[in-house]
Amino acid sequence: MEVPTKNLGIFEGKRAYNYDNFVAQWIPNYQYFMSMLPRLFESTKDKNMLSVGCGTGTEIRHLKDADDTWSFMAVDPSPEMIQLAQKKLEKYGDIQFLEGYVEGLPLQPLYSAATLVLVLHFIKYPNERLALLTEIQKRLKPGATLVLMGIFGSRQDIRNNLEILRLLLPTDVPETEIEERMERIKRDLHLTTEEELNKLLVRAGFEPPTRFFQTSIYSAWITKKPTT
Ligand SMILES: C[S@@+](CC[C@H](N)C(=O)[O-])C[C@H]1O[C@@H](n2cnc3c(N)ncnc32)[C@H](O)[C@@H]1O
Repeated sequence: MEVPTKNLGIFEGKRAYNYDNFVAQWIPNYQYFMSMLPRLFESTKDKNMLSVGCGTGTEIRHLKDADDTWSFMAVDPSPEMIQLAQKKLEKYGDIQFLEGYVEGLPLQPLYSAATLVLVLHFIKYPNERLALLTEIQKRLKPGATLVLMGIFGSRQDIRNNLEILRLLLPTDVPETEIEERMERIKRDLHLTTEEELNKLLVRAGFEPPTRFFQTSIYSAWITKKPTT
């Protein structure tokens, strides 16, 4: 499938290869968040998941380590991220990869679960975020659970929480890197407020979401596709 024009959200080159170190430094409790996933999806009956923006495959590894009967469709437009995920996940079976976008997947089979972790804030326009959520919803079974994580909140929430994030960063991150990255977060990422997220998910065909986790600017939400 042809991948549309480049954008900041597609992790290429150095950004891809440094990604695991970057999240460990910049997202307090990232590992803890990942370690919760098996518990959040424990009651899912058919253990087949759509991992959207799978990146280097960390979500998948946590779920497979907890229960090897999980199978995955892992989607990411970045060839480097797909390659890194394939390497990280080489010892596990039942994982298919799509280098591309969710809309490139057929409407069958339907999945019982999905993740969208650290993706939505790279998508510029609300109608594109709605389209992505709708494409995910169309590929899920009734009752399927979706877990999202990302930078959600008003501009002021994010400014305030960036100052909290600054206090929580490892002490060896150079000051110039901190300043540059904070500026990039304020300038280049696309925020969705809590209210907008609620509306987008409902319009895409999900239940209103519940926030279950927050660490500085990052928050995580859980929702379901209604059963009827
Ligand atoms: C910050 S990484 C998150 C990776 C992984 N979910 C994690 O938490 O470690 C965001 C990923 O989303 C991918 N991405 C960007 N736009 C996307 C889109 N429209 N659909 C699916 N994936 C996308 C990027 O290439 C990148 O690998």
